[in-house]
Amino acid sequence: MKPQRIIIAGGTGFLGEILTRHFRDQDHQVIILTRGESKAKQGVEYVHWDGQSLGDWVNYLKGADALINLSGKSVDCRYTTKNRRRIYDSRLNSTRALGLAMLKMEKPPKTWINATSGTIYRHAEDRPMTEADGELGEGFSVDVCQKWERMFFGFELPLVRKAALRTTIVLGNEGGAFVPLKTMARLGAGGKHGNGEQMFSWIHAFDFCRAVQFVVENNELEGVFNVAAPEQVQNHTMMRMLRSALDVPFGIPSPKWLLEIGAMIIGTETELLLKSRWVKPERLEQAGFQWEFPALEKAFADLLAKPMFAVETKLGTV
Ligand SMILES: NC(=O)c1ccc[n+]([C@@H]2O[C@H](COP(=O)([O-])OP(=O)(O)OC[C@H]3O[C@@H](n4cnc5c(N)ncnc54)[C@H](OP(=O)(O)O)[C@@H]3O)[C@@H](O)[C@H]2O)c1
Repeated sequence: MKPQRIIIAGGTGFLGEILTRHFRDQDHQVIILTRGESKAKQGVEYVHWDGQSLGDWVNYLKGADALINLSGKSVDCRYTTKNRRRIYDSRLNSTRALGLAMLKMEKPPKTWINATSGTIYRHAEDRPMTEADGELGEGFSVDVCQKWERMFFGFELPLVRKAALRTTIVLGNEGGAFVPLKTMARLGAGGKHGNGEQMFSWIHAFDFCRAVQFVVENNELEGVFNVAAPEQVQNHTMMRMLRSALDVPFGIPSPKWLLEIGAMIIGTETELLLKSRWVKPERLEQAGFQWEFPALEKAFADLLAKPMFAVETKLGTV
């Protein structure tokens, strides 16, 4: 593949960092839109934007091969009125600003990939949710995703191919859910969460990067895509596999009431652990995407054997 110019909005977070490294290591040019300062670092250009209004940053989009939007306030917080507003605004305003920027552009980016989430589907313990026949859920997080996708697909951009990624929990050593999960399991608190029956939908960080690249490279792919591994397991199985990979002989289970108290103390929500997400990546499968880590046991073994990138990140050397 010839070198591409790839813009990543919100590229300073967990997924942005691993994607940046993934593309940069293949000699693609990566430009990050950030609310932080403009600078150049380790071959990556950081361009300031405010995540909501048009500015000089628009010029960087012109003629780009791909625009990937990952902007959004972290959902790892209490869903207070203020935080709910920030969660909506950070996703909707950034998506709107990018869409508006491209509306009158003669040469907009060829592809626009926008983040959304696998949590858009209902609590599912009975059957997997595919893009074609998955049922959408209800409640705050689902509403965020629906409005986010509506904003994204609402822009009519005939020259731009659009794909919304309904990504499930990305497992990586650089951030996200895996870091606290393995810490808790090492401390002996690696039992099931709630009744443990809920499905755990996940994807290895390396496969997340490869799936994004797959969508960038395949010109016929557009619309929504579930970004998950093909093998999904229940929470109690996931925790058993994690204990086994960590060689921790026992794991105290966390009943729902205990999780509620814990979540309040550390400022998060139990939905992140208790909602049953059963997300099947049917469209990626049909398109011929090959997972490096289709099964969770292999993914855990890999993540615990070596960090994905043994180099310096803003989180330190991993
Ligand atoms: N991690 C997962 O497992 C997962 C799964 C499904 C979906 N997602 C979605 O994928 C996206 C990226 O996830 P992530 O884990 O990389 O998140 P993250 O680490 O929290 O990074 C998100 C980035 O968004 C930018 N941002 C934060 N607040 C913003 C605001 N008010 N306006 C504009 N930009 C803002 C920040 O960049 P600057 O501070 O540089 O501006 C931040 O680095 C998120 O939208 C998330 O909901 C993640």
